[in-house]
Amino acid sequence: MPFLYYFGEMPIKFLILALLFPVLTASQENPALIRSSTAMETAWDFPKNPLNDSLPADSHLAAQIRTGFLLFTETPRKAARFTRNLLSCNNCHLNGGQREKAMPLVGISSAFPEYNKRSGRLISLEDRIVGCFLRSENATGTRPAPPDRELIPSPTSQEVLALSAYISWISRGFTVGSPLDWRGQNVIPAKNLVPLERLDRRKGKELFLEKCSTCHGEDGQGVEIGDKKAGPLWGPMSWNDGAGAARVYTLAGIIRFAMPYLDPGSLTDEEAQHLAAFINSKPRPKFPFKSSDYPREKVPVDAVYYKK
Ligand code: HEC
Ligand code: HEC
Repeated sequence: MPFLYYFGEMPIKFLILALLFPVLTASQENPALIRSSTAMETAWDFPKNPLNDSLPADSHLAAQIRTGFLLFTETPRKAARFTRNLLSCNNCHLNGGQREKAMPLVGISSAFPEYNKRSGRLISLEDRIVGCFLRSENATGTRPAPPDRELIPSPTSQEVLALSAYISWISRGFTVGSPLDWRGQNVIPAKNLVPLERLDRRKGKELFLEKCSTCHGEDGQGVEIGDKKAGPLWGPMSWNDGAGAARVYTLAGIIRFAMPYLDPGSLTDEEAQHLAAFINSKPRPKFPFKSSDYPREKVPVDAVYYKK
């Protein structure tokens, strides 16, 4: 009887599956992200490139998308008034935010607004971009003094809106709540996190000299390799101490899956953490509003530049 029962039901199950299949696969289809294993030969590839691809018919919007792309890849030059260091968005979000395991931003606009622990409230994509300027780009820094009067980016600054237009354009087709499997992948599994006091900066330094300094320089300031230049990992031209990358485990997650550039994924979880502990033991610009962060949450343990 059970056999007959299953047998009788099967065609209907198949029918349901066959009907559902396109829906299921459509909502989970991965975008054409650059594979992390391809390293340097794809350094300048952009699966979606607004300088070549067709853009929305609205010419104002199309212009903003193109501007946003240029801002993303040449941030210090194109967004000079809000960028007081030598990092482009592209330094951390490789290939225009379109490379797997390098904090890709494809589809991300569909995830906002979202609750943000550091702000203790719901934030928009534009708020998020402002945060990146303030912290990763050190907009609150003092040098070089820009001539413009608007020194602090806001969600309506033209640079922020253009970046938002670009990120929204690479997010087209993803509706609110779409599963974004490639999001949040630059994370070391909790069970493999080494307590901070057991991380060894000297080991981190040795690894740095062995595996990173050919491109990042022994002084961590970055050297030119062809037409690429690795960014400063510490010092006055790096991200400030309120940035996501100033957290040891966050930085370890970037390093673990995106670096070293020619062989990403080759480090162990532990090595990436020793490296991050070394890099984030170095001096960097101060973010002046750290005391307003985490108004409702505990300061995370790995936010080593915050007073606990
Ligand atoms: C120093 C490295 C670094 C730079 C430079 C940087 N970011 Fe980020 N970005 C991060 C990290 C790390 C995160 C992950 C969030 C966290 O833990 O704080 C992030 C997250 C984001 C997010 C949210 C992604 C998500 O999945 O929620 C957006 C959007 C973003 N960055 C845009 C930008 C833009 C635009 C710029 C340039 C103005 C930029 N970033 C520059 C490191 C960087
Ligand atoms: C073959 C050269 C190369 C090696 C080796 C290398 N990097 Fe990088 N790294 C780069 C380049 C180039 C970028 C910027 C990418 C871009 O702009 O597209 C970068 C970016 C980064 C970033 C993002 C912020 C910044 O300062 O640009 C971090 C963090 C980083 N590397 C850490 C490391 C660590 C740690 C190692 C050693 C395990 C390492 N890298 C090894 C070339 C390299």
